[in-house]
Amino acid sequence: DRSIKIAPSILSADFANFGAECAAIEAQGADWVHVDVMDGHFVPNITFGPATCAAIRPHIKGVMDVHLMIAPVDPYISAFADAGADVITAHVEAGPHIHRTVQAIRGAGAKAGVALNPATPAAAVSHLLDMVDLVCVMTVNPGFGGQKFIHSQIDKVRQLREMIGDRPIHIEIDGGVDPTTAPLVANAGADVLVAGSAVFRGGSVSNPAPYGENIRAI
Ligand code: DX5
Ligand code: ZN
Repeated sequence: DRSIKIAPSILSADFANFGAECAAIEAQGADWVHVDVMDGHFVPNITFGPATCAAIRPHIKGVMDVHLMIAPVDPYISAFADAGADVITAHVEAGPHIHRTVQAIRGAGAKAGVALNPATPAAAVSHLLDMVDLVCVMTVNPGFGGQKFIHSQIDKVRQLREMIGDRPIHIEIDGGVDPTTAPLVANAGADVLVAGSAVFRGGSVSNPAPYGENIRAI
């Protein structure tokens, strides 16, 4: 039985308290910390870059999982690797050379992830499966937290699990994960569940217990 990891997205954290928020979610049972990097170009929102990742790195004991929603990607890979990212995920839609991007991520010493927008078929990663550590299935259109889970993606998760076979590749789900949708994607073969609003709701750095309750409920 595959163990399910919960990766809270700090997109839903208090931006003025990232260090304390990272420590709080780990203390409350988070497995990974998911960091959503947005450029206002590939997605219609702007968050933060490598300097912020480097600043929060000392506050994370476990895996820093960096999700790049930026285009182009390649010029920034070494900066995110130097900032201490354990996993760097790039979108297949972000440019014409995702194969080169994946090589560059591994070359920089990080684990390589590839993300698929909701309209992109599973087949887009079929020639990358021998060189990636993670496939991220977006279950919302990337850009914002708190959106509604897109159910048509469950079938894509099943297809990917089949395509991956016995390779040691994580299937990560990102968007609209909550206690209702989590079992659907876990049953389809996902093992890393990103959750922003469903983890951070009701809590804060001074009242972190709800984070733990929310994580256990997923
Ligand atoms: C969406 C981001 C997600 C987002 C998830 O563009 O990649 O990581 O923060 O937020 P929720 O869990 O609220 O859908
Ligand atoms: Zn994300």
